[in-house]
Amino acid sequence: MQESKSHKILVLHGPNLNLLGHREMAVYGMATLKEINDRLMDLAKKAGVELTISQSNSEGELVDQIQKAQGMYQAILINPAAYTHTSVALRDAIASVGIPTVEVHLSNIYQREPFRHHSYIAEVAVGQICGFGPNSYLLGLKAAIDHLNTQRTT
Ligand code: DQA
Repeated sequence: MQESKSHKILVLHGPNLNLLGHREMAVYGMATLKEINDRLMDLAKKAGVELTISQSNSEGELVDQIQKAQGMYQAILINPAAYTHTSVALRDAIASVGIPTVEVHLSNIYQREPFRHHSYIAEVAVGQICGFGPNSYLLGLKAAIDHLNTQRTT
């Protein structure tokens, strides 16, 4: 725990995730983005890491945030939402900055429409967690912290 004190992790939520709790509840559940963010903050506090959390509906804004993360954050936790399946720009931004990135999704994208089965982000991510609802984010944050701690000690 002591070792993760200095870790700063950027959490990015992609388009339409601001509507969580109101949007397609049968697929995404009832938790709002604020509730998910509060749970992430609680976990981060317990683990001794610092989180910055941001949501954007704009692809360019997300690219800007990833670029600006260089030198400031040791890991990125991202739910790219619909851009997962379309955005070479997000993929290239993550590859360019070289910051270990964990991709998360509330739903199991592989059980859904075929167009959701491909992720441009998975190819440049450390790993992907999907299908656990809001817990995907918490599992993803744990995975990111674990990855950073493992990197440090090996
Ligand atoms: C999502 C899955 C995407 O396919 C979809 O476009 C989203 C949310 C998820 O968290 O399950 O907006 O990323």
